[in-house]
Amino acid sequence: MAEYVGALDQGTTSTRFVVFDREGHIVSVAQKEHRQIYPQPGFVEHDPEEIFSRSVEVMREALEKGGINPQQLKAIGITNQRETTILWDKKTGKPVHNAIVWQDTRTAEICEKLAGDEGIYRFQQKTGLPLATYFSGPKIRWLFDHIPGLFERAKKKEIAFGTIDSWLVYKLTGCHVTDVTNASRTLLFDIRRLCWDEEMCEVLGIPMEILPEVVDSSHPEAYGKLSREILGESIPVTAVLGDQQAALFGQTCYEVGEAKNTYGTGCFLLVNIGEKVVFSTRGILTTVGYRIHGENAVYAMEGSVAIAGALIQWARDKLGLIEKAPQIDELAMKVEDSGGIYIVPAFSGLFAPYWRSDARGVVVGLTHYTNRYHLARAILEATAYQTREIFDAMMEDAHINLKELRVDGGMVVSEPLMQFQSDILGIDVVRPRVTETTALGAAYAAGLAIKYWQDKKELRSHWQIEKRWQPRLDAATREALYRGWKKAVTRTFNWVE
Ligand code: G3P
Repeated sequence: MAEYVGALDQGTTSTRFVVFDREGHIVSVAQKEHRQIYPQPGFVEHDPEEIFSRSVEVMREALEKGGINPQQLKAIGITNQRETTILWDKKTGKPVHNAIVWQDTRTAEICEKLAGDEGIYRFQQKTGLPLATYFSGPKIRWLFDHIPGLFERAKKKEIAFGTIDSWLVYKLTGCHVTDVTNASRTLLFDIRRLCWDEEMCEVLGIPMEILPEVVDSSHPEAYGKLSREILGESIPVTAVLGDQQAALFGQTCYEVGEAKNTYGTGCFLLVNIGEKVVFSTRGILTTVGYRIHGENAVYAMEGSVAIAGALIQWARDKLGLIEKAPQIDELAMKVEDSGGIYIVPAFSGLFAPYWRSDARGVVVGLTHYTNRYHLARAILEATAYQTREIFDAMMEDAHINLKELRVDGGMVVSEPLMQFQSDILGIDVVRPRVTETTALGAAYAAGLAIKYWQDKKELRSHWQIEKRWQPRLDAATREALYRGWKKAVTRTFNWVE
């Protein structure tokens, strides 16, 4: 009987379960979307119970589709949208509120107050992060401020906090744990000591009693085993990684200076910086990349862009410009360029390198000449320009000079986007054979923990290039276009007073 490893990838818009074989090939996959709840402008929520139900459904469906017996699954890895925050009642297991999603900006005021005169980088040396609405800590604070009696219940140890990984593990195995990568996105975690930080909890007014135990990303026992009612077998969960760190692991970026860019709901460029932390002066985050049981933690620098694929979804669902996401390519390819327009999708403010919660989206450069094809092109190009911004900042901060960029995620099927990405960066863009690298990374980490795969060297041998794009623009045109983008970005500032 063939043996496999499964990965549960709980993303911002959907949940998938992917089953991999020993060569890292996909054997079966199932995917389901969940509701995006927008109670008011700037608020983004998910229903934690729905996320759990979808997770169980996709696991069962993928096994059924692939004719796989649960006994054939030797281990499961979990990877997840990061920062999204859930508090639940420990006795009943019921959430006290919807999950507050990473894109949600309701905590702008909390962050501003905390930054005070010292500014948003006040806690960077400890947490690796700026004070921004993106991260979990302020979201927890908001819940305590808005749910009467919650703080007292938390002090009495009746409440648990978790990012999505933690919530899912709790529901699947009963353990209240998280991994170092997810912990490093909370603003409560000391990334050097690799533990929850008392001062940060105090500053944010968060009782430490609610926090999960932090464990290695890949560990043979720490996450427990699936309770039998899920799949009928008690399969061990042996890895947890935030989705971007999982993609770094799946792209086998195990050496210092190796990097990947994932084009999902948002867009996240991560570079492996090894076992020592390096801090940015240009809005790039320092975060934990992964920690394999028995090894030192490996760090990464990250350029985070909030809106990438989400802009295409918006063009589909809110503008009605297209009916299905791939149609954006068909429209964009009808024109040579964007006709001089730029779209800056600052829907959740701007993340790296700006970290401005006062920014809101703009379309600039409109004339009588502009048509919907130009608009489609500008929608795709927005992701490439945002990548250029974080790429430049990161190359300087991490003192590296990448010759090519490894890409993955849903949007890398877009021919015009990948070509323009190469054009605007002025370097090659390479797509691997398996672009499900988030799930693959979680599976790899889970498989390593049980010796399904022996070591990282074996994992590296699976990686293969499927396609390469080379820059076609001359340097002068490239820089002129990029200057236009930079100017467009300044038009988003100070929109929210
Ligand atoms: O930090 C947010 C990130 O983890 C979300 O990833 O894949 O849902 O865009 P994704």
